[in-house]
Amino acid sequence: MPKDIKLLVTRQFPDDVLARCEQDYTCSLNPDDANWNGDDLLGRAAGHDAILLSSNSKFSADVIPRLPDSVKILATFSVGFEHIDIDAAKAKGLIVTNTPGVLSEATADIAFMLLLCASRRAFEADNMVRTGQWSGWTPTQLCGPGMQGKRLAILGMGGIGRQVAQRGRAFGMTIHYHNRSRLPADLEQGAVYHDTADDLMAVADFLSINCPMSDDMVHFLNEDRIGRMPDGAVVVNSARGGLVEDAALIAALKSGKVFAAGLDVFEGEPTVNPAYWALDNVFMSPHIGSATVETRNAMGFTALDSLDAYFAGNEVPNRLA
Ligand code: 8YV
Repeated sequence: MPKDIKLLVTRQFPDDVLARCEQDYTCSLNPDDANWNGDDLLGRAAGHDAILLSSNSKFSADVIPRLPDSVKILATFSVGFEHIDIDAAKAKGLIVTNTPGVLSEATADIAFMLLLCASRRAFEADNMVRTGQWSGWTPTQLCGPGMQGKRLAILGMGGIGRQVAQRGRAFGMTIHYHNRSRLPADLEQGAVYHDTADDLMAVADFLSINCPMSDDMVHFLNEDRIGRMPDGAVVVNSARGGLVEDAALIAALKSGKVFAAGLDVFEGEPTVNPAYWALDNVFMSPHIGSATVETRNAMGFTALDSLDAYFAGNEVPNRLA
């Protein structure tokens, strides 16, 4: 790899990832881990050949045309790519890559953390012990719905959704799903396919949202869809916050229509709708789906594999544009 290729590294990625960046490229780093965007990001891009970025950096249709012509490739350290306008990138002749596959297991683990913590009332349980309010065991204390024998509805049966399904089977759940297209039998593994998302809602004792964000999926989980779910359902979202209409979910958590929710992602994050804070039946985490040491390294290495291939003149893996 010619060391004179200039790489803008927009975040303080894990040490092993940064070490590989610096070994192979001439890097501009971000040791303060500031969140560069807009004119700041565009100014810093000047003179670089490539950008390694996270989903915090917005490469929207008004930013991409203003990128310096020296920049040939954007490699995002994420599977989600709604922060990059792919059409604008194609129009500019920019290559764009992402990191599918390597974060499926870690993200499915967090979906299950949310399912367990929501249904088994982890926030209330921890709070009771931590604040000295536990006066002793009682037969009905902090009971919630069990998972065994229940229907786990998975919206989006890509790599992450299929890992969630595998975990659901291990918990004795029956797996139902909706996806843009039905999976072949070897990937479906007995899961029940529903042609429409609305049909899926009707069987969602537990709902796990695992689909990508797109314009037609904004506020997918709204009042109407919640109304189609069984009473006392459990909802978890480890995909993107904008898939859920917060006001509708908050109303359902208050009324008991939804027993509990587990949320790792939020619309407008890191800002969170403050109405969630007052609800004991919501368990929240700060977008940690892929946050294992191994996974974050693998995401960085996958992004760098794409950059390396491009600059070596080889076919670029995980190409979106
Ligand atoms: C990332 C994610 O941590 O990969 C994704 O799409 O949502 C997360 O796992 C985050 O987007 C970092 O760029």
